[in-house]
Amino acid sequence: MSEPLDLVVAEREDLTPYVTRFVLRSPSGSSLPGYSAGAHLTLTTPSGSRRSYSLVEAGDDRPTQYVVCVRREEQGRGGSLSLHRETRVDDTLTVSGPHNSFALEPARRYLFIAGGIGVTPIRSMVNELRRHNEAKIDVVYLSRTREDTAFAKEFEQDGAVVHHSATQGRFDLWPLLAEPDDDTRVYCCGPKALIDDVLALTMHWRPSRVHVEDFTGVDALGGRQAPFRAVWEPTGVRVDVPAGRSLLHALRDQGIRVPASCESGTCGTCRIRLIAGEPDHRDLVLSAEERSQYVMPCVSRASSPELVIAPDRAEASV
Ligand code: FES
Repeated sequence: MSEPLDLVVAEREDLTPYVTRFVLRSPSGSSLPGYSAGAHLTLTTPSGSRRSYSLVEAGDDRPTQYVVCVRREEQGRGGSLSLHRETRVDDTLTVSGPHNSFALEPARRYLFIAGGIGVTPIRSMVNELRRHNEAKIDVVYLSRTREDTAFAKEFEQDGAVVHHSATQGRFDLWPLLAEPDDDTRVYCCGPKALIDDVLALTMHWRPSRVHVEDFTGVDALGGRQAPFRAVWEPTGVRVDVPAGRSLLHALRDQGIRVPASCESGTCGTCRIRLIAGEPDHRDLVLSAEERSQYVMPCVSRASSPELVIAPDRAEASV
């Protein structure tokens, strides 16, 4: 895993009354670690929160800058407000990544469904695919109002369906999803309600053809909270995880270091190996296959009284 970088805010621009674009560059002007379409960065905001934001430009092996767009969430957890209110041009932000848990898989046709600020990884993917011009691309971009639709004109000129619920009512996705098609991959990013809709409407699709991403993250201490015990396999240390404490923090309380970033189940940094026991998976990154092998301790807990776990990487240790 790469070391965090301190990057300079080279530009900031309001795209809508709520969405601001930030351009980050190395202080020396040198190139930055590469990324593929759909990747995200984790930024440490001036308030100290860590938040993940998708890169909005097409993938690049040697980028000279990273570009993210941040929606100001008045009712959020404070990270976006801090970026909007406290980050100015020439400030320095600490950045981890890029990571990609929403990568493009090969297909003949893509159906992209973006909701609100969920358009950011979709824009990166569409631009990446256009560069190679190999696949058929359909885009549905849903937002509440035109005024608050970042990149609206660009998507309209590119032939996307851009739909505003405040003036046009609810968009019916069923006609697009009724017929499953193994040659098509569906990518959806947006609010949880949209993702739930798409997952419900594609129940009859092959699961591998449907890809979703929700960056609102998971509340580490939300939902049912039962205490359980974790056993750290390399040393046999037993760690009691009380209700109201995450597995990640309970491990750290015992001096067990596990790398972490978003602490909301979205970035993939804290992954550890599952040796035994039944996890209560709550993250948004592990695939169905990975869930039998790994756990994300920042948000996930246990359904069994005990979990036996081990580091994913050599550097995670006591
Ligand atoms: S720290 Fe990001 S998924 Fe756990």
